[in-house]
Amino acid sequence: MNDTLVADAPVAPRYSRTVADLPCPKGHPYAGNALQLAGRQMHQKFTAWVREHGPMFRLEVFGHPLVIVSDAATVHSLLRERPDGFRRAGGLKQVMSELNVGGVITAEGEAWRKQRKLVMSGLNVEVIRNFFPTMIAMTERMFDRWAAMLAEGKAVDLKRELKAMALDIIVGLAMGHDIDAVNHEGDPLQRDIDAIFLRLGQRTTAAFPYWRYFRLPVDRAAERSSADIEAKVKEFIRDTRERMDRQRKPGNMLEAMIVAADDPESGFTDEELVSNAILSVIGGEDTTANSIAWMIHLLAQNPQAAAALRAEVDAVLDGDTLPRDWERMKLFTYLEAAHSETQRLRSVAPYVGLTANADCVVADTFIPKNTTVIVATAGEGLDEAQFPDREAFRPERWIPGQRPKREEDPSRKLFPFGGGSRLCPGRFLALTEIKMVVAMIVRNFDLELDAKAPPPKEVLNFFMAPSSLPVRLKPRVRR
Ligand code: HEM
Repeated sequence: MNDTLVADAPVAPRYSRTVADLPCPKGHPYAGNALQLAGRQMHQKFTAWVREHGPMFRLEVFGHPLVIVSDAATVHSLLRERPDGFRRAGGLKQVMSELNVGGVITAEGEAWRKQRKLVMSGLNVEVIRNFFPTMIAMTERMFDRWAAMLAEGKAVDLKRELKAMALDIIVGLAMGHDIDAVNHEGDPLQRDIDAIFLRLGQRTTAAFPYWRYFRLPVDRAAERSSADIEAKVKEFIRDTRERMDRQRKPGNMLEAMIVAADDPESGFTDEELVSNAILSVIGGEDTTANSIAWMIHLLAQNPQAAAALRAEVDAVLDGDTLPRDWERMKLFTYLEAAHSETQRLRSVAPYVGLTANADCVVADTFIPKNTTVIVATAGEGLDEAQFPDREAFRPERWIPGQRPKREEDPSRKLFPFGGGSRLCPGRFLALTEIKMVVAMIVRNFDLELDAKAPPPKEVLNFFMAPSSLPVRLKPRVRR
């Protein structure tokens, strides 16, 4: 596909087709494709339509066109056209704002640039490195808990544990507090975050925004959860402001953001600090927990890949039970490849919505101002021509020297963390956490697939989650 993208061109841009010329799946005469889009498997419908209609097609939602793009080169150029050429799609922003999720993810223009700086100051390598000892302690705590549970003959509910662990880490980093959700089942903050995700997931995949006309008990409960999260975050900020030692380097994201916000030159408001702290907790939990859950499931299904990963982890840890050396985190080549392969097959944020700020041309197609273009972050990850044996979990595809000669480097074909200037600012934290937790698991436990349980379904709970995680942990027998 031609990936030309011309926005605000000084001369009239050239194109050979318009949005109306793009192929479109047959829909309802009035609602168009809206009813087909509703539901938690929306992303799988997109993927099926990509196979049927090709890398660029159109959907109609109550008379409004949506353009879907999956060709990697075009996705890459579109993501890089922000913030000037494209903004975040308005529908998503509205749904998030209605549930009090804002901050950098919904901001645009100058407000976005300013908040992006604030968030980046809290998620840079130095902050994550300063937080690394806390991450080790939290991982060790989870390991001890699992070892004790298995010794008592209890099963480990991995899906629940991974979510609690991701919450502990993000609250520890973003709020400077240890809530120990791993050991406290039913933590109120976790319950409130789950309630928000459930609403976000339902509202972003609903055919009709009924909650703007009347509210059901679940909507009122979500509003209460959102108020409770805000109150909790404000309490964390107050505490941290009082306790923090300003002579010392920031030990967590909140301290780093407070230092940045307290600079009189910065122009940051307290409201921006609060909304970005809430966003970090929301953005940092399910993304990472779901990615680890999918990776564990794929490893349990693929013993050969699990054995290769185990060999790498054993060598890097050199007898230890989990990673404790920051420098050695760089040595997990196969683990990083297994993560990329997981995002190819089970992308947790499979689509990003963009809206054109001006008339432009995308891949030889005229796109009028305000048209929404949805890009596939997994690009052509399921295209057999680009990824031979596409359904197979093969981390070797990502490792130079290990991938088959006929296969190209896939790293520029997928965008699990988005791209351009809005590239996910949490990716370094996410990767550090994923490597820490997965290394601890494969070093100490055997993964046993529950062959009797049905395979997990892909469910769009805002982020794409497994409906279950039918994998049992068994203490590893080291020979
Ligand atoms: C495996 C884990 C994760 C995945 C797959 C993921 C994926 C994404 C994607 C696809 C985007 C949209 C990027 C774009 O528009 O180009 C995004 C944005 C964002 N992510 Fe993540 N994310 C992950 C973890 C995290 C974590 C741990 C945080 C922590 C705080 C975080 C915070 C954010 C924020 C604040 C944005 C908005 C950035 C902006 O609009 O400028 N993410 N993420």
